[in-house]
Amino acid sequence: MTNPTLQLDFNLSTAEQIGGGGLQRADLEALAPVVAQAHQALTQGRREGRIAFMDLPGQTAAIDEAVALGRELGAQFENLVVLGIGGSSLGPKALYKALKHPFVSLLPASQRGGARLFFPDNSDPSTFAGLLEVLDLKRTAFAAITKSGGTAETWAQLLHVSSQLDATARQKQIVAVTDPKVGALRAVATKEGWRTLPVPPAVGGRFSVLTPVGLLPAAAAGIDVAALLKGAANMAKRCEATTLFENPAYMLASVLHWFHTQHARPIHVLMPYVDALRETGDWFVQLWGESLGKKKGREHVGPTPVRAVGATDQHSLLQLLMEGPQDKVVVFVTAETPREELTIPHGFSDQPDVAYLGGHRFSKLLNTEQYATSVALAANGRPSITIRLQKLDAFAMGELMMLWEVATAFSGPLYGINPYDQPGVEAGKRYTCGLLGRPGYEGAKAELEARPALKRDWLL
Ligand code: PA5
Repeated sequence: MTNPTLQLDFNLSTAEQIGGGGLQRADLEALAPVVAQAHQALTQGRREGRIAFMDLPGQTAAIDEAVALGRELGAQFENLVVLGIGGSSLGPKALYKALKHPFVSLLPASQRGGARLFFPDNSDPSTFAGLLEVLDLKRTAFAAITKSGGTAETWAQLLHVSSQLDATARQKQIVAVTDPKVGALRAVATKEGWRTLPVPPAVGGRFSVLTPVGLLPAAAAGIDVAALLKGAANMAKRCEATTLFENPAYMLASVLHWFHTQHARPIHVLMPYVDALRETGDWFVQLWGESLGKKKGREHVGPTPVRAVGATDQHSLLQLLMEGPQDKVVVFVTAETPREELTIPHGFSDQPDVAYLGGHRFSKLLNTEQYATSVALAANGRPSITIRLQKLDAFAMGELMMLWEVATAFSGPLYGINPYDQPGVEAGKRYTCGLLGRPGYEGAKAELEARPALKRDWLL
């Protein structure tokens, strides 16, 4: 195993650091039976092939196919638009934003190292029309990504794009990433002769970043996919350990679950002090929220994920984190060495509010702010965990994403729910289909019509 570059620090969650509401070793030792049970559920799922996301880094044939096609698109086209939503967009977007130049689209083509990626994601016509207005269609490829093959938002965009291209251009410019056998996209792609890549059925949408869902766009953009997978494999190996103090994902999940259930802290704030991880925060929100927010018999369980960015949110959310309700745990992420460094110049030395900054590195300011904030929270009795990356590179992203995926899978049994389904999102989809006249959804429309009429009194 290559040396890990990611370290978790739980110090500022302990009673020694934050006082009465903090964690003690005995609290974790008491979790041994539930940890063993959750470990058993995860390993059995893997053995039976039901839970496949941890094994993705070893699937070389599928990886090679996705990377080859991604590189081909990256070499042929200036732009790649990802048509997808939820797990079919958030993972590749997180990778792109974390690992490419922050303003890659503004760089000259020769310095971009691959295609520019765009993630319209939503079916907001202003965004999609606006994007197509500024892209040269002939120099643009489209990755239609939908595991189920039938997602309305994705199809609305794909239908629009298809209508702008003739059959030959569609074959050249559209690639379908979807279930290997079933679904509307698979059927259309086969009929139309589009190139396709499979999403493995045993990998859920929000766990699919290391399948062609994430790898095709990453390779097209010139991201070091081999290093990404190496980092993920490394973390998957670390997460095979059975004991909490050896297994970073089990420890992360268990500590967050303990604060939720023992100290009524159900809000989990992911707060990287790295701008490039902003979209990783969005990816985390989907992974954590959609996997763990579930109905359990008569109960409703699950933590509430929140995404913040430091130091930006020190000037926004931090007041609430520091003095608001005692219902949160903050998980910081830091990068010791930034990809680019700047030193703050000396200047205006007659101004004490300014003079002390001169000579410090920007990264020193940022990381000192993170440390100071975490200690200030601790001094106020508020727990935090810090995930430290040596540097935000492809290897570290692989480690970070695999860490959260295993922590999510492990949290399922801790909460006593299935983390891989999302029954709660179906009701709204049914109503939408009913209202838009999809055959088979007449019942959903009738249900809506039977609801109490909306009253004029409540319109202002
Ligand atoms: O995690 C999930 O399964 C969902 O959030 C999906 O990713 C999302 O609904 C998109 O589904 P699909 O990839 O089938 O279009």
